[in-house]
Amino acid sequence: MKRILYFIIIFSIFIGCEEVEKPDRSTWNIIQEEVLLSSCVNCHASQTAITKQSGLDLSKNEAYSEMVGVSPKNIAAKEDGLVIVSNEGGMKGLAKSFLWEKINAYDREHYLSDHPQYGQMMPPGENFLSDGQLKFIRSWIEAGAPESGIVVDEKLLLDSNRYSPPEFTPLNPPEKGIQLHIKPFEVKPNYEREFFQYTDLNIDGDIYANRIEIEMRSGSHHFILYSFDKNINNSNIPEYDIKRDLRFEDGTMNVQTLRTMQYHEFFSGTQWPRMDYNLPPGVAFKLNSKFGIDQNAHYVNRSDSIIIGEVFTNIHTIDRSEVEKVANIINWSNQEILLPPRKVTTLNKSFITDAPIYIGQLFSHAHEKMTEFVVKIKGGERNGELVYWTDDWEHPPIINYDPPIQLNNGEGLELIATYDNQEDRFITFGFLSTDEMMILFGWYYK
Ligand code: HEC
Repeated sequence: MKRILYFIIIFSIFIGCEEVEKPDRSTWNIIQEEVLLSSCVNCHASQTAITKQSGLDLSKNEAYSEMVGVSPKNIAAKEDGLVIVSNEGGMKGLAKSFLWEKINAYDREHYLSDHPQYGQMMPPGENFLSDGQLKFIRSWIEAGAPESGIVVDEKLLLDSNRYSPPEFTPLNPPEKGIQLHIKPFEVKPNYEREFFQYTDLNIDGDIYANRIEIEMRSGSHHFILYSFDKNINNSNIPEYDIKRDLRFEDGTMNVQTLRTMQYHEFFSGTQWPRMDYNLPPGVAFKLNSKFGIDQNAHYVNRSDSIIIGEVFTNIHTIDRSEVEKVANIINWSNQEILLPPRKVTTLNKSFITDAPIYIGQLFSHAHEKMTEFVVKIKGGERNGELVYWTDDWEHPPIINYDPPIQLNNGEGLELIATYDNQEDRFITFGFLSTDEMMILFGWYYK
């Protein structure tokens, strides 16, 4: 009897321990069990031809050490400095992770047009991971891709929506506002076409826009709307409705187009085929009646046949009386650029606000010697926090902040740009692609 009791006690202690010590699955284990096992391992298993080709065996427990901190087998991705999964964390860790490039369905158009050598998207075909799986993996990489510990809320996986490539549908004109339309145009096989088209808004007084919709035929690399700096002289204002290509067909730059670009003032833009951008209620952009809008389309055609581009933009406006705050354009430029020959140089400049501001959108601009462009918050509670990072001078990301980045009096943003000048001459600030720039574009409201 005594013995049985003894057993019961031991047994219940044992059960008790079981309950207390049963470990929750780590974020990495969840990725293995809920993503890799179901969507990847059928190809990336030991000894398969695909595993040999891709160099990636995702079937084993060691899948972690196959990916984190490891250079890709894909040569172009390796040469671009990517690792399969980076453990640097944050925006930079994400941008350095080849895995993210390969699965991020929402950036598919870009992936295909910017990186023809990066292979297919994973899983291959139009078999995209669910939004929940994508968010989960993304958050794990942003948290530094640890092998143990719980760094992401498992509930994200409940989101079973899936990306589907958008069908192009012409926009109906806005109920109140203006529609711009770049009519169908051709992009030759294996060709990149970037041009500007200046459009008259036909307005008598300034107007206020609080929503911008853009819809493009696929193949678009980016689309940006610019106004002009008020200091532009009339001879530099382009003619209406003429396409001004950035490059001639032989690849040389069109200097006249470059000249007008010096006076651009960023207004809005997107890198995805569809954008519907709403400013917070009562906040609006002011469009100066003195200028039209310079529309900048960039299409990339990697196929062997002609593709057709087309872009609709709806600028939805509100009455002046409904505007509580006008969104201001950020055009923060460091013109003190001096890059000694055969050297890597890092420049920084801070822009400090003297009143509280809310930043809604940012993107960087530099030329081909830029190897890294970083923006950090300066001052206040978020001092030092990285809010923007790119190593891509040609296609810097346009990043939206929701909620906006709030900066108080005396706080600001620090721009840190690194340039690799391997020429035998000093490089200075200038507008040609052989000169350099260091600009942060975007908008804020007070
Ligand atoms: C139908 C088979 C198949 C499936 C399923 C598949 N892959 Fe792949 N994967 C390949 C092939 C083939 C390659 C090599 C060619 C390429 O990159 O397009 C590859 C390459 C890769 C690479 C690049 C490796 C390197 O070092 O260059 C990564 C990363 C990758 N796959 C991740 C995944 C992930 C994650 C999944 C699941 C979400 C997945 N794959 C599902 C076939 C597959």
